Amino acid sequence: MTNRTRILTGITTTGTPHLGNYAGAIRPAILASRDSNADSFYFLADYHALIKCDDPLRIQRSRLEIAATWLAGGLDVDRVTFYRQSDIPEIPELTWLLTCVAAKGLLNRAHAYKASVDKNVETGEDPDAGITMGLYSYPVLMAADILMFNAHKVPVGRDQIQHVEMARDIGQRFNHLFGQGKEFFTMPEALIEESVATLPGLDGRKMSKSYDNTIPLFSSAKEMKDAISRIVTDSRAPGEAKDPDNSHLFTLFQAFATPAQSDEFRSELLQGLGWGEAKNRLFQLLDSELGESRERYHQLIERPADLEDMLQIGAKKARAVATPFLNELREAVGLRSFVAQTQVAATTKKKATKAARFVSFREDDGSFRFRLLAADGEQLLLSRNFADGKTAGQVTKQLQAGQALDVRSEDLSFSVWLEGECVADSATFADGAARDAGIDALRIALTPVQE
Ligand code: TRP
Repeated sequence: MTNRTRILTGITTTGTPHLGNYAGAIRPAILASRDSNADSFYFLADYHALIKCDDPLRIQRSRLEIAATWLAGGLDVDRVTFYRQSDIPEIPELTWLLTCVAAKGLLNRAHAYKASVDKNVETGEDPDAGITMGLYSYPVLMAADILMFNAHKVPVGRDQIQHVEMARDIGQRFNHLFGQGKEFFTMPEALIEESVATLPGLDGRKMSKSYDNTIPLFSSAKEMKDAISRIVTDSRAPGEAKDPDNSHLFTLFQAFATPAQSDEFRSELLQGLGWGEAKNRLFQLLDSELGESRERYHQLIERPADLEDMLQIGAKKARAVATPFLNELREAVGLRSFVAQTQVAATTKKKATKAARFVSFREDDGSFRFRLLAADGEQLLLSRNFADGKTAGQVTKQLQAGQALDVRSEDLSFSVWLEGECVADSATFADGAARDAGIDALRIALTPVQE
């Protein structure tokens, strides 16, 4: 599990996916997620969407459509972690921690921000006219997306490479300042899929919403057909040989066809297949490739509550990673519980704590228990009985995870609780002071040792 490559990417939720998005990003990402070596994190970058769009209805609609598109396209939510950025409160929190180490000079160099400044200067405006802090800080939010989950690979378009580099830069700075030799953050790498062709649009330029030349993906068969009928071709009449290599209609066909289908289409074009008929072939191909997904898409869109549930499960999975990690990072920068403070202050005792250890054993009745022994062998805790070794093991793991301890004092003893359940007890002490010293010793023993 830990050796799998973590692949993470976000999709900004400002539009409706078209055929070019599907072939260029969605389809390859879904295929990549099926690799048994891949641990994929795919998310709707809806905080990023707010930077570009102040139309709440559009934001909402786009989130729904993009979620449905990915699921209809065959994304298996049991395999991947699929979530909305805005369901993970740890992301904006990490954004702030990173904002405090990100150099302003670094962000001054971000392409998107610079392009806006250049445009303002060109038109004689104030350089920062219309530029929000959201646009300016965009790369820090993206760094938080990536670093929060320690992604190894980040599939992105070329325009995003700089942002991934900035994430490395910012993450490295944080590691250096707070890691004390420990690398909190993995250095991510941008992954540019060279083999994925960018699809041409109706007019032959790159298919893009900003050129208004897109072919819709899942709206309806009719809309797809209408768009295809508007593909620009040359004026060769039926019967005249067509040049497949200079036809973006053929390029579109190829992106969805098997090599055999492409070969056949190529020779038909060379033999003078009319453009009208060629468009028909393209439609037939796309319809057979995408028709089923389109149906699933509409079923999903009609059941937003199901989509909501799926995304909530995704958020839970993501937060199972993010919450403990962010706790560690808060700790590292000094945002610590006052209670926990005593453990860290007690650095002199820390050396001895290295040797504190859990010893597990089995009772005659078959149940599993463990003791926590301090370095000097003194018993700090004796666990309750667990039905199996796995549960006992999980409890010791959780106790060592460095999270705030739920310690409850009784009269002359104390107990430790996890998720509302008492998991272990101390011995009985001679007096309250001895009991409190015991609690301190326990906290020290359970403070993760950082080297
Ligand atoms: N900025 C990316 C884009 O517009 C979307 C995005 C947001 C992203 N956060 C990310 C991509 C993290 C990869 C990793 O394409």
